[in-house]
Amino acid sequence: MTLENKWALITGASRGIGRATALAFAREGAHVLVHYGRSAKEAETAVSEIRSKGGQAEAIQADLSTPDGAALLASRTRSAIGDHLDVLVANAGVSKASRIAGYTVEDFDNLYATNVRGTFFLVQQLLPIMSEGSNIVVVSSIGARFVVGVPGLENPSILAYASTKGALETLVRNWAAILGPQGIRVNAVAPGVIETDMSNFTKTDAGREVALGMQALKRLGKPEDVADVVAFIASDNARWITGASIPVDGGSKL
Ligand SMILES: NC(=O)c1ccc[n+]([C@@H]2O[C@H](COP(=O)([O-])OP(=O)(O)OC[C@H]3O[C@@H](n4cnc5c(N)ncnc54)[C@H](OP(=O)(O)O)[C@@H]3O)[C@@H](O)[C@H]2O)c1
Repeated sequence: MTLENKWALITGASRGIGRATALAFAREGAHVLVHYGRSAKEAETAVSEIRSKGGQAEAIQADLSTPDGAALLASRTRSAIGDHLDVLVANAGVSKASRIAGYTVEDFDNLYATNVRGTFFLVQQLLPIMSEGSNIVVVSSIGARFVVGVPGLENPSILAYASTKGALETLVRNWAAILGPQGIRVNAVAPGVIETDMSNFTKTDAGREVALGMQALKRLGKPEDVADVVAFIASDNARWITGASIPVDGGSKL
Protein backbone atom coordinates (compact mmCIF):
# COMPACT_ATOMS: atom_id res chain seq x y z
CA MET A 1 0.00 0.00 0.00
CA THR A 2 1.52 3.30 -0.96
CA LEU A 3 0.50 6.90 -1.29
CA GLU A 4 4.03 7.88 -2.28
CA ASN A 5 4.20 11.45 -3.60
CA LYS A 6 0.42 11.82 -3.83
CA TRP A 7 -1.12 15.14 -2.85
CA ALA A 8 -3.93 14.72 -0.33
CA LEU A 9 -6.30 17.23 1.24
CA ILE A 10 -7.73 15.96 4.52
CA THR A 11 -10.49 18.09 5.96
CA GLY A 12 -10.87 18.38 9.72
CA ALA A 13 -7.31 17.13 10.25
CA SER A 14 -6.62 19.24 13.33
CA ARG A 15 -8.14 16.65 15.66
CA GLY A 16 -9.50 13.11 15.96
CA ILE A 17 -9.92 10.86 12.92
CA GLY A 18 -8.74 13.50 10.45
CA ARG A 19 -5.51 14.08 12.35
CA ALA A 20 -4.78 10.35 12.53
CA THR A 21 -5.53 10.11 8.80
CA ALA A 22 -3.11 12.92 8.01
CA LEU A 23 -0.38 11.09 9.96
CA ALA A 24 -1.18 7.76 8.28
CA PHE A 25 -1.07 9.36 4.82
CA ALA A 26 2.27 11.01 5.58
CA ARG A 27 3.64 7.67 6.84
CA GLU A 28 2.67 6.18 3.46
CA GLY A 29 4.55 8.93 1.63
CA ALA A 30 1.76 11.38 0.77
CA HIS A 31 2.12 15.16 0.86
CA VAL A 32 -0.66 16.33 3.14
CA LEU A 33 -2.76 19.46 3.38
CA VAL A 34 -3.94 19.52 6.99
CA HIS A 35 -7.23 21.40 6.87
CA TYR A 36 -8.73 22.95 10.01
CA GLY A 37 -11.58 25.23 10.97
CA ARG A 38 -10.89 26.74 14.39
CA SER A 39 -8.06 24.63 15.83
CA ALA A 40 -5.06 26.41 14.30
CA LYS A 41 -2.65 25.36 17.04
CA GLU A 42 -3.62 21.68 16.79
CA ALA A 43 -3.27 21.79 12.99
CA GLU A 44 0.22 23.28 13.27
CA THR A 45 1.17 20.57 15.78
CA ALA A 46 0.06 17.88 13.30
CA VAL A 47 2.07 19.57 10.53
CA SER A 48 5.16 19.73 12.79
CA GLU A 49 4.79 16.06 13.70
CA ILE A 50 4.66 15.08 10.02
CA ARG A 51 7.62 17.27 9.12
CA SER A 52 9.68 15.96 12.05
CA LYS A 53 9.36 12.49 10.53
CA GLY A 54 10.57 13.75 7.15
CA GLY A 55 7.12 14.19 5.59
CA GLN A 56 5.64 17.14 3.72
CA ALA A 57 2.61 18.92 5.14
CA GLU A 58 0.96 22.31 5.26
CA ALA A 59 -1.95 23.64 7.33
CA ILE A 60 -4.88 25.20 5.49
CA GLN A 61 -7.88 26.95 7.06
CA ALA A 62 -11.53 27.34 6.05
CA ASP A 63 -14.84 27.28 7.92
CA LEU A 64 -16.89 24.70 6.03
CA SER A 65 -20.13 25.72 7.74
CA THR A 66 -20.25 29.02 5.82
CA PRO A 67 -21.77 29.29 2.31
CA ASP A 68 -18.43 30.16 0.71
CA GLY A 69 -16.25 27.96 2.94
CA ALA A 70 -15.87 25.14 0.42
CA ALA A 71 -14.96 27.49 -2.44
CA LEU A 72 -12.44 29.24 -0.21
CA LEU A 73 -10.84 25.92 0.76
CA ALA A 74 -10.66 24.84 -2.88
CA SER A 75 -8.99 28.08 -3.91
CA ARG A 76 -6.52 27.85 -1.01
CA THR A 77 -5.81 24.25 -2.02
CA ARG A 78 -5.02 25.35 -5.59
CA SER A 79 -2.74 28.09 -4.28
CA ALA A 80 -0.89 25.58 -2.11
CA ILE A 81 -0.47 22.66 -4.53
CA GLY A 82 -1.28 23.87 -8.04
CA ASP A 83 -3.55 22.12 -10.50
CA HIS A 84 -3.52 18.47 -9.42
CA LEU A 85 -5.06 16.81 -6.36
CA ASP A 86 -4.75 13.03 -5.94
CA VAL A 87 -6.90 12.45 -2.86
CA LEU A 88 -9.64 14.33 -1.05
CA VAL A 89 -10.61 12.95 2.36
CA ALA A 90 -13.85 14.70 3.32
CA ASN A 91 -13.70 14.10 7.06
CA ALA A 92 -14.66 17.39 8.76
CA GLY A 93 -17.97 17.13 10.51
CA VAL A 94 -20.07 18.07 13.50
CA SER A 95 -22.52 16.08 15.59
CA LYS A 96 -25.33 16.82 18.00
CA ALA A 97 -27.23 14.59 20.39
CA SER A 98 -30.67 15.64 21.62
CA ARG A 99 -34.19 14.47 22.24
CA ILE A 100 -36.38 15.13 19.17
CA ALA A 101 -38.05 18.01 21.04
CA GLY A 102 -34.70 19.63 21.77
CA TYR A 103 -33.54 20.28 18.20
CA THR A 104 -33.57 23.84 16.91
CA VAL A 105 -33.55 25.03 13.31
CA GLU A 106 -30.04 26.38 13.95
CA ASP A 107 -28.82 22.94 15.08
CA PHE A 108 -30.29 21.33 11.97
CA ASP A 109 -28.92 23.94 9.60
CA ASN A 110 -25.45 23.76 11.13
CA LEU A 111 -25.35 19.97 10.80
CA TYR A 112 -26.40 20.08 7.15
CA ALA A 113 -24.28 23.13 6.28
CA THR A 114 -21.08 21.59 7.64
CA ASN A 115 -21.54 17.90 6.90
CA VAL A 116 -23.48 17.92 3.63
CA ARG A 117 -23.33 21.33 1.92
CA GLY A 118 -19.66 21.83 2.78
CA THR A 119 -18.74 18.42 1.37
CA PHE A 120 -20.98 18.73 -1.71
CA PHE A 121 -19.46 22.04 -2.79
CA LEU A 122 -15.92 21.05 -1.85
CA VAL A 123 -16.17 18.14 -4.29
CA GLN A 124 -17.69 20.44 -6.92
CA GLN A 125 -14.91 23.00 -6.49
CA LEU A 126 -12.04 20.49 -6.45
CA LEU A 127 -13.14 18.36 -9.41
CA PRO A 128 -11.34 20.59 -11.92
CA ILE A 129 -8.03 19.59 -10.31
CA MET A 130 -8.85 15.88 -9.99
CA SER A 131 -8.39 13.45 -12.86
CA GLU A 132 -7.87 9.78 -13.78
CA GLY A 133 -6.38 8.03 -10.72
CA SER A 134 -7.61 10.63 -8.23
CA ASN A 135 -10.07 9.54 -5.57
CA ILE A 136 -12.36 10.82 -2.84
CA VAL A 137 -13.00 9.24 0.57
CA VAL A 138 -15.94 10.54 2.59
CA VAL A 139 -16.03 9.85 6.32
CA SER A 140 -19.59 8.72 6.97
CA SER A 141 -20.85 6.95 10.11
CA ILE A 142 -22.50 3.75 11.27
CA GLY A 143 -25.47 6.08 11.86
CA ALA A 144 -26.08 6.32 8.11
CA ARG A 145 -27.47 2.77 8.15
CA PHE A 146 -28.18 1.76 11.75
CA VAL A 147 -29.98 3.33 14.69
CA VAL A 148 -27.44 3.81 17.46
CA GLY A 149 -28.13 4.46 21.13
CA VAL A 150 -31.29 3.56 22.99
CA PRO A 151 -34.37 4.68 21.03
CA GLY A 152 -36.98 6.55 23.09
CA LEU A 153 -38.68 9.95 23.10
CA GLU A 154 -36.95 10.87 26.37
CA ASN A 155 -33.53 9.66 25.24
CA PRO A 156 -31.05 11.80 23.34
CA SER A 157 -30.35 10.57 19.85
CA ILE A 158 -28.22 11.63 16.89
CA LEU A 159 -30.95 11.23 14.27
CA ALA A 160 -30.36 14.58 12.51
CA TYR A 161 -26.60 13.96 12.38
CA ALA A 162 -27.22 10.38 11.18
CA SER A 163 -29.38 11.70 8.36
CA THR A 164 -26.53 13.95 7.16
CA LYS A 165 -24.40 10.82 6.86
CA GLY A 166 -27.20 9.07 4.95
CA ALA A 167 -27.21 12.02 2.55
CA LEU A 168 -23.42 11.73 2.14
CA GLU A 169 -23.62 8.01 1.36
CA THR A 170 -26.24 8.74 -1.32
CA LEU A 171 -23.90 11.38 -2.75
CA VAL A 172 -20.99 8.91 -2.69
CA ARG A 173 -22.90 6.46 -4.90
CA ASN A 174 -23.92 9.24 -7.30
CA TRP A 175 -20.43 10.74 -7.46
CA ALA A 176 -18.94 7.27 -8.03
CA ALA A 177 -21.32 6.67 -10.95
CA ILE A 178 -20.79 10.10 -12.48
CA LEU A 179 -17.01 10.21 -12.04
CA GLY A 180 -16.20 6.56 -12.78
CA PRO A 181 -15.86 7.14 -16.54
CA GLN A 182 -13.23 9.79 -15.70
CA GLY A 183 -11.27 7.21 -13.69
CA ILE A 184 -12.06 8.90 -10.36
CA ARG A 185 -13.10 6.61 -7.50
CA VAL A 186 -15.39 7.73 -4.67
CA ASN A 187 -15.95 5.75 -1.47
CA ALA A 188 -17.13 6.16 2.10
CA VAL A 189 -15.83 4.72 5.33
CA ALA A 190 -18.42 4.32 8.08
CA PRO A 191 -16.84 4.36 11.54
CA GLY A 192 -18.63 3.07 14.62
CA VAL A 193 -17.87 4.70 17.95
CA ILE A 194 -14.35 6.11 17.89
CA GLU A 195 -12.65 7.76 20.88
CA THR A 196 -12.44 11.45 19.92
CA ASP A 197 -13.77 14.78 21.19
CA MET A 198 -16.96 14.11 19.21
CA SER A 199 -17.76 10.94 21.15
CA ASN A 200 -16.98 12.23 24.64
CA PHE A 201 -19.90 10.17 25.98
CA THR A 202 -17.48 7.22 25.92
CA LYS A 203 -15.62 8.84 28.82
CA THR A 204 -18.42 7.76 31.18
CA ASP A 205 -18.88 4.12 32.20
CA ALA A 206 -22.46 4.17 30.92
CA GLY A 207 -21.41 5.56 27.54
CA ARG A 208 -18.61 3.03 27.26
CA GLU A 209 -21.08 0.23 27.99
CA VAL A 210 -23.42 1.42 25.21
CA ALA A 211 -20.54 1.44 22.73
CA LEU A 212 -19.08 -1.92 23.73
CA GLY A 213 -22.55 -3.46 23.98
CA MET A 214 -23.13 -3.13 20.24
CA GLN A 215 -19.65 -4.24 19.16
CA ALA A 216 -18.25 -7.73 18.52
CA LEU A 217 -14.73 -6.53 19.34
CA LYS A 218 -14.67 -5.39 22.98
CA ARG A 219 -12.58 -2.25 23.03
CA LEU A 220 -13.27 1.30 21.96
CA GLY A 221 -12.27 2.22 18.43
CA LYS A 222 -9.34 4.58 17.97
CA PRO A 223 -8.80 7.24 15.30
CA GLU A 224 -5.91 5.14 13.91
CA ASP A 225 -8.30 2.21 13.33
CA VAL A 226 -10.18 4.38 10.83
CA ALA A 227 -7.13 6.18 9.44
CA ASP A 228 -5.48 2.95 8.27
CA VAL A 229 -8.61 1.95 6.34
CA VAL A 230 -8.91 5.41 4.75
CA ALA A 231 -5.26 5.15 3.68
CA PHE A 232 -5.95 1.75 2.10
CA ILE A 233 -9.11 2.90 0.28
CA ALA A 234 -7.27 5.95 -1.04
CA SER A 235 -4.34 3.85 -2.27
CA ASP A 236 -4.02 2.15 -5.64
CA ASN A 237 -4.40 -1.21 -3.87
CA ALA A 238 -8.12 -0.36 -3.66
CA ARG A 239 -8.23 0.51 -7.39
CA TRP A 240 -11.28 -1.71 -8.07
CA ILE A 241 -13.41 -0.32 -5.23
CA THR A 242 -15.75 2.56 -5.95
CA GLY A 243 -19.20 3.57 -4.72
CA ALA A 244 -18.69 1.52 -1.54
CA SER A 245 -19.20 2.27 2.13
CA ILE A 246 -16.78 0.32 4.28
CA PRO A 247 -17.81 -0.26 7.92
CA VAL A 248 -14.94 0.39 10.37
CA ASP A 249 -16.76 -0.37 13.60
CA GLY A 250 -15.35 -3.42 15.38
CA GLY A 251 -18.33 -5.43 14.19
CA SER A 252 -21.10 -3.18 15.48
CA LYS A 253 -24.79 -4.16 15.32
CA LEU A 254 -24.07 -7.53 13.65
N1 LIG B 1 -15.90 9.91 16.72
C1 LIG B 1 -16.82 9.05 16.33
O1 LIG B 1 -17.30 8.21 17.09
C2 LIG B 1 -17.28 9.07 14.87
C3 LIG B 1 -18.08 8.00 14.45
C4 LIG B 1 -18.53 7.99 13.14
C5 LIG B 1 -18.18 9.00 12.28
N2 LIG B 1 -17.40 10.03 12.71
C6 LIG B 1 -17.07 11.09 11.74
O2 LIG B 1 -15.68 11.24 11.64
C7 LIG B 1 -15.36 12.57 11.27
C8 LIG B 1 -14.33 13.13 12.23
O3 LIG B 1 -14.88 13.10 13.52
P1 LIG B 1 -14.02 13.11 14.88
O4 LIG B 1 -14.63 12.14 15.79
O5 LIG B 1 -12.59 13.05 14.55
O6 LIG B 1 -14.44 14.57 15.41
P2 LIG B 1 -13.62 15.72 16.14
O7 LIG B 1 -12.51 15.15 16.96
O8 LIG B 1 -14.67 16.55 16.78
O9 LIG B 1 -12.96 16.53 14.92
C9 LIG B 1 -13.78 17.19 14.00
C10 LIG B 1 -12.92 17.85 12.96
O10 LIG B 1 -13.79 18.50 12.01
C11 LIG B 1 -13.41 19.86 11.90
N3 LIG B 1 -14.57 20.73 11.71
C12 LIG B 1 -15.74 20.71 12.38
N4 LIG B 1 -16.52 21.73 11.96
C13 LIG B 1 -15.83 22.40 11.03
C14 LIG B 1 -16.09 23.54 10.23
N5 LIG B 1 -17.24 24.23 10.33
N6 LIG B 1 -15.16 23.97 9.36
C15 LIG B 1 -13.99 23.31 9.26
N7 LIG B 1 -13.66 22.21 9.98
C16 LIG B 1 -14.58 21.77 10.86
C17 LIG B 1 -12.70 20.20 13.20
O11 LIG B 1 -11.80 21.27 12.94
P3 LIG B 1 -11.49 22.48 13.99
O12 LIG B 1 -11.43 21.92 15.34
O13 LIG B 1 -10.17 22.98 13.46
O14 LIG B 1 -12.59 23.49 13.79
C18 LIG B 1 -12.00 18.89 13.54
O15 LIG B 1 -10.74 18.84 12.91
C19 LIG B 1 -16.68 13.35 11.28
O16 LIG B 1 -17.19 13.45 9.97
C20 LIG B 1 -17.58 12.45 12.12
O17 LIG B 1 -18.93 12.63 11.80
C21 LIG B 1 -16.94 10.09 14.00
